[in-house]
Amino acid sequence: MQIEIKGLKDDRFQRPLQLITNLFYEESQVRLKDFPEAQMVAEFLVEEKDQLEVKLTLKDKNSGSTYTASSRKDVKGLGEKEAFKQLKNAVSAVYLNTLQEMTGIIQKWGFLTGIRPTKILHKALREGATKEEAHQMLRDQYMISEEKIELMQHIIDRQLTVVPDLYNLRNEVSIYIGIPFCPTKCAYCTFPAYAINGRQGSVNSFLAGLHYELREIGTALKEMNIPITTIYYGGGTPTSITAEEMDALYEDMYKYFPDVKNVREVTVEAGRPDTITPEKLEVLKKWDIDRISINPQSYISETLKAIGRHHSVEETIEKYHLSRSMGMNNINMDLIIGLPGEGTKEFQHTLDETEKLMPESLTVHTLSFKRASEMTQNKRKYKVADRSEVEKMMNMAEKWTAEHNYEPYYLYRQKNILGNLENVGYSFPGKESIYNIMIMEEQQSIIGIGCGAASKFIDPITGAIQHFANPKDPKSYNDSFEAYTKEKIEIIRALFAKQES
Ligand SMILES: C[S@@+](CC[C@H](N)C(=O)[O-])C[C@H]1O[C@@H](n2cnc3c(N)ncnc32)[C@H](O)[C@@H]1O
Ligand code: SF4
Repeated sequence: MQIEIKGLKDDRFQRPLQLITNLFYEESQVRLKDFPEAQMVAEFLVEEKDQLEVKLTLKDKNSGSTYTASSRKDVKGLGEKEAFKQLKNAVSAVYLNTLQEMTGIIQKWGFLTGIRPTKILHKALREGATKEEAHQMLRDQYMISEEKIELMQHIIDRQLTVVPDLYNLRNEVSIYIGIPFCPTKCAYCTFPAYAINGRQGSVNSFLAGLHYELREIGTALKEMNIPITTIYYGGGTPTSITAEEMDALYEDMYKYFPDVKNVREVTVEAGRPDTITPEKLEVLKKWDIDRISINPQSYISETLKAIGRHHSVEETIEKYHLSRSMGMNNINMDLIIGLPGEGTKEFQHTLDETEKLMPESLTVHTLSFKRASEMTQNKRKYKVADRSEVEKMMNMAEKWTAEHNYEPYYLYRQKNILGNLENVGYSFPGKESIYNIMIMEEQQSIIGIGCGAASKFIDPITGAIQHFANPKDPKSYNDSFEAYTKEKIEIIRALFAKQES
């Protein structure tokens, strides 16, 4: 779809209008100048009298149909920056309204893109807004639907029950440890995940680097007296390495990290059932790992084959029971809505199978077409459900989890996610993953070590965020881990010294 925008000259409108258009049309093009080939013309009229008024007429050149909307904002006394923000909101609102009317598609997240929704609500409440005022802000500034506002509030209430000191954890850190190996690469995935078979050399050198990072960062945290709130082993699939390699890694974690016994939660992502063995479960138990994930994604064998997950449905179930019988009492399971060939019938089957297992938590993702994934590169090969069916499956997940005593406790969205929906983590009360809350709400620094590990350093005083990414592939990691480790330690020293002074 190509759209010509008239009446707005400022280039700063280009990006927000393009992003809104993308919510409705794939491969769309928006231009703020002459665009004779465009199928649609959006003509804006901006008037500033007592109030700022934005009017829009959207015309479909083929059918001749027109759609109109208008919005008013009070901008008296506002500085340029704030006044422009209001203008941008009004422009976005009328544009979204007319596109909704024209296409019949309702955007439940309004025009909110790219931001963690719950973070905005946390911020408003922390700054002293009442719930009503904060909710009104979400309606006014982003046009978020009542349904999603209610979900966000529910999640925030849960998070503050589970982590009552969520806003006061800036003097601690959480740790993410990235292990970039998997048995095979799944078609939808762009995480650092290298097929492990036949790569023992690469695994060995990677692990040597990882042990180095763990030791150096752990020692620095001890020296600076910085406690750890949570630790998360992700990837990839951290149980792709051998039981002995896992054992050595956890041994060093206890040896070098400060006070691991009092860390609130240690999670190991054991997502691929084909990596789980009794020996590895023994190691997890030996080192008191609190929480693991065993991820079905779907309980339909054909789907698992189509997405390149070389394990069977039976193996998921069998490894789940094995983990239980060996004492794992906090198990998460990941599902994906909208996998190729799946609709409500298949998803109902997945929910029915989940009912037989009842893991402590369930993370429901909506399929996202990530640019570099095999699925996106060969999109034609993968037939997925349409928007309304994806929404139905999402509603089924919401209803099913509520009926089975799961509560939503974290939420995030991704680009190119089917139906422009979201991923939601549900859990039994008291079994939420604290790490997931910490990473989503950005209330403390997360130090990433290992391959593809992203660090987020939060200034304990100003809250400003600094990102830092380790290389994604093991080879570049091996070439540079010492330098990266040193740089991270310097950042931590600078931030935490500031807090003390
Ligand atoms: C980093 S992956 C690791 C989990 C583990 N290696 C496994 O596959 O079981 C975390 C989760 O994100 C979800 N995920 C990954 N890529 C996705 C995509 N393109 N769309 C939707 N969900 C995705 C999957 O549910 C996956 O279990
Ligand atoms: S989804 Fe998990 S198992 Fe599949 S490639 Fe990605 S990280 Fe590996």
